[in-house]
Amino acid sequence: MNKKNRLRHLITFIAITQTLLCAAQAPVKISVLVDKPQARIQPTMWGIFFEDINFSADGGLYAELVKNRSFEFTTPLMGWKQNRVGGADASLLVVNRNSVNANNPRYVNIAIKNNKGSFVLTNDGFRGMGLVKGEIYNFSMLAHAVDGDVKISIEAINETGETIGRATLSQVQGDWQAYKTQLTCLKTSPKAKLNVTFEGQGTVQVDMISLFPANTWKNRTNGLRADLVQKLADLHPGFMRFPGGCIVEGRDLANRYQWKKTVGDIADRQLIMNRWNTEFSYRSTPDYFQSFGLGFFEYFQLCEDIGASPLPILNCGMACQYNSAEVASLNQIDPYIQDALDLIEFANGSTNTKWGGLRASMGHPAPFNLKMIGVGNEQWGEQYLERYKIFAAAIKKAYPSLKMVTSAGPDPDGERFDYLTKAMRAEKASLIDEHYYRTPEWFLKNASRYDEYDRKGTKVFAGEYAAHIPNETQKDTRAESHNTWWAALSEAAFMTGLERNADVVHMSSYAPLLAHVDAWQWRPDLIWFDNLRSVATPNYYVQQAFSTHKGNRVVPVLAGNKILAGHDSLYSSATIDTANRQVVIKIVNTSVQPRMVNINIQSKSRLGKQVQWLQISNPDKMVFNSLEQPDQVKPVSQNITWVGKEKMVKLDGLSVNVFIVAGGKF
Ligand code: AHR
Repeated sequence: MNKKNRLRHLITFIAITQTLLCAAQAPVKISVLVDKPQARIQPTMWGIFFEDINFSADGGLYAELVKNRSFEFTTPLMGWKQNRVGGADASLLVVNRNSVNANNPRYVNIAIKNNKGSFVLTNDGFRGMGLVKGEIYNFSMLAHAVDGDVKISIEAINETGETIGRATLSQVQGDWQAYKTQLTCLKTSPKAKLNVTFEGQGTVQVDMISLFPANTWKNRTNGLRADLVQKLADLHPGFMRFPGGCIVEGRDLANRYQWKKTVGDIADRQLIMNRWNTEFSYRSTPDYFQSFGLGFFEYFQLCEDIGASPLPILNCGMACQYNSAEVASLNQIDPYIQDALDLIEFANGSTNTKWGGLRASMGHPAPFNLKMIGVGNEQWGEQYLERYKIFAAAIKKAYPSLKMVTSAGPDPDGERFDYLTKAMRAEKASLIDEHYYRTPEWFLKNASRYDEYDRKGTKVFAGEYAAHIPNETQKDTRAESHNTWWAALSEAAFMTGLERNADVVHMSSYAPLLAHVDAWQWRPDLIWFDNLRSVATPNYYVQQAFSTHKGNRVVPVLAGNKILAGHDSLYSSATIDTANRQVVIKIVNTSVQPRMVNINIQSKSRLGKQVQWLQISNPDKMVFNSLEQPDQVKPVSQNITWVGKEKMVKLDGLSVNVFIVAGGKF
């Protein structure tokens, strides 16, 4: 038998064995009790959590292509190279005008003495610049002509040094002002660079050198990368938590996230080092800073664009407890609280107020409809409780209907968790944010975590979670390799537990959201990207399967008289959508074996015959999607016919299944 035939026989043998095994196993009978609606599912049930980690903002979602555009990195010329061509006698000086502009003190002074050749400043971009053939790019900069006559032009060059786009600027004259031009790219390059060329004789000063694609999300200036926002929009998130994460806390209080420094003119937003720059020595990223071009106005606008309710998280006077653990003393906490109150005014206040007026001046007179606010990220201990109480009292006094979101600490159990859970419930916090970065097995085991939770009072926000496979089990070295199908499948099993307990769990979000393949610090992540492309992970498709088939009431799914959370490796939850008249049944099969399942829908309402079956499956637990192979795991949808209220289905091994059954009036 030749090799090809042997392989064919082996595949046939495996298929027959699996069918026999499946047939040998009695079908699992489940009943979906449509006429017994339970908890309402909150519009916020499935959301997203954005943090500037892994180059998510600068170098990622924020579409600016020039790195260190304002020379404010700790090393002022990081990302820039100087080149004197054709005998130019030119000098560059980094100048600091701190007393005039404390937020953006540096600029560069370029003096060309001999009117010969040219002086070229080259920007590397964020691991290069992704430029696309035929696309238009908007260049801008601030410049001041000190003396003489200096002409400025720009060109984009690709990896081989070939010019793939060029443009000239109008003559720089007089005091500081903005100059703009556009270039059209002639060839696609994932790692292009930008040359800014100075010719002539004289002195000019420049700052805020910027290049953006014209094609940003909604074509906005200072905009966001359209492909990445589209991926977020396609999740239909009920909320967006931002801007972090540990980034809110800072390694120390001086480097905490301060929203007021992220609004207004982008040239006045004071840059700081990103805390993930130095966090992990094995993934150090010395060129990681926060320009805040993506600031609080842009976050609120993004939430509005993608239909997500905004959930800003504020520093509560505590720096990261894993790092400096610095706290503001209780009698110094007022500025932190004022920041919170002012933020609420910025989001919701009338345009006659100070902060509402700023929002209007930035182009959004209408309120952003902020309904909840988070106090602190992963804080813990008594010092957190003390500070939370002061925040809550002040916020509740001014805005009684605003929901308060608190932390349960970094772990999903243990002393710190128990202490805060009890204390925050006593404080009547609206939601407690629980975080779990655990193994897939933990997720399977915890699919029934909330079945026994206290149903009254404070609700759960599963604010950061992701199944982490142990490092040693993943041999593939690609950045995306930890987003395995097995991790995603275990999250899906766990999510049936979140959905079943929608009276307890009001919000949930996977974490982190975005990661650049060349500049990440933390993995797994929901979406990977490089300078031109992005890829949805299996975890993304799981999130999407739940968030886009949410329903609005939970209905029980029973196997015998028990909930289905692990029995025969199956996990299930179901909802009805009273507006769209649908029954939505989710079944996750975590076994490698296919499973026969007999689904019995108990409903007085007539059901349609056409059923949509959305399936995500792959026989290989360790498979993942990469930029090169983005479709290893992805949802497939088919229409099937169900006559009557009972149906036998064969679920693939290792599969997530969503059945959408059209119904009558529930
Ligand atoms: O999601 C990455 C980090 O994990 C977050 O910044 C932090 O809240 C958690 O420890």
